[in-house]
Amino acid sequence: MNNLSGKVAVLTGGGGGIGRATAELLAKQGMKVVLLGGNNSDKLQLTQTLVGQYSECLAIPGNLTDMAFLKQGVEAAVARFKGIDVLINNAGVAQNQQFEDISVEDFDRIMAINFRVPFFLTQQALPYLKRSDSATIINVASVVSHAGYPMQSVYTASKHALLGWSKSLGAEYYQDNIRVHAISPGGVYTDMVKISRPDLKADGMIMPEEIANIVLFFLANRGNAVVDEIMVHRVNKQPFLV
Ligand SMILES: NC(=O)c1ccc[n+]([C@@H]2O[C@H](COP(=O)([O-])OP(=O)(O)OC[C@H]3O[C@@H](n4cnc5c(N)ncnc54)[C@H](OP(=O)(O)O)[C@@H]3O)[C@@H](O)[C@H]2O)c1
Repeated sequence: MNNLSGKVAVLTGGGGGIGRATAELLAKQGMKVVLLGGNNSDKLQLTQTLVGQYSECLAIPGNLTDMAFLKQGVEAAVARFKGIDVLINNAGVAQNQQFEDISVEDFDRIMAINFRVPFFLTQQALPYLKRSDSATIINVASVVSHAGYPMQSVYTASKHALLGWSKSLGAEYYQDNIRVHAISPGGVYTDMVKISRPDLKADGMIMPEEIANIVLFFLANRGNAVVDEIMVHRVNKQPFLV
């Protein structure tokens, strides 16, 4: 197991769900955590308090779709912690809507947060990751990265884009000792799923902590075996069903 103590993780979407559980778990390993972005500063503040029980934590609220914010966020992270070892692209938005009703504004918003943000945030963080001896990028994709779902055409397309880019990035930067992983969860019991899929019940859903454990597995087991993507299905569902 790699010693993660003192390593610096920048994580988006830390205000709840998978992001909060991951931030807490990494802090318990002694990692310094930057919670980058979030429109709801109360939720981000709560995560900062939880994480701060275990390790140093910097919270930077703001809208990730603002390109200037991405640059400023990375600069603020490096100013505080002197580098970046791990980038976790986790923030995302889902939408359940019939294809013919999706507006250009919805399309742009969802593609931006789910794909453009990870893409350009990684560009900003890359010079610092290149200097790390344990550089790792983890993209939180989805089972919809691998399958087509009715009523989720933009979300599905954005997560396909995220997974495709993850594969390309991993191949391109392997020689720079940067590992790229994608995790593709099915239904995880978070605010997102409660809002976008109110038909799904908590019983049998994946818990955010289970995804956090997989993130930790990637970081703690940095050997010669490279795992590029992991699909995580609910226990009571067939593969490819949310
Ligand atoms: N839950 C599932 O079933 C499931 C399944 C597969 C994949 N995923 C993926 O898991 C990731 C985390 O989602 P979650 O389930 O943990 O839901 P969540 O609790 O709703 O987390 C989403 C996070 O993204 C942040 N966010 C959204 N738009 C943003 C923006 N423009 N600027 C800054 N932050 C923004 C939200 O912050 P604010 O609320 O402060 O805006 C929130 O903290 C997402 O990428 C999602 O697609 C989830």
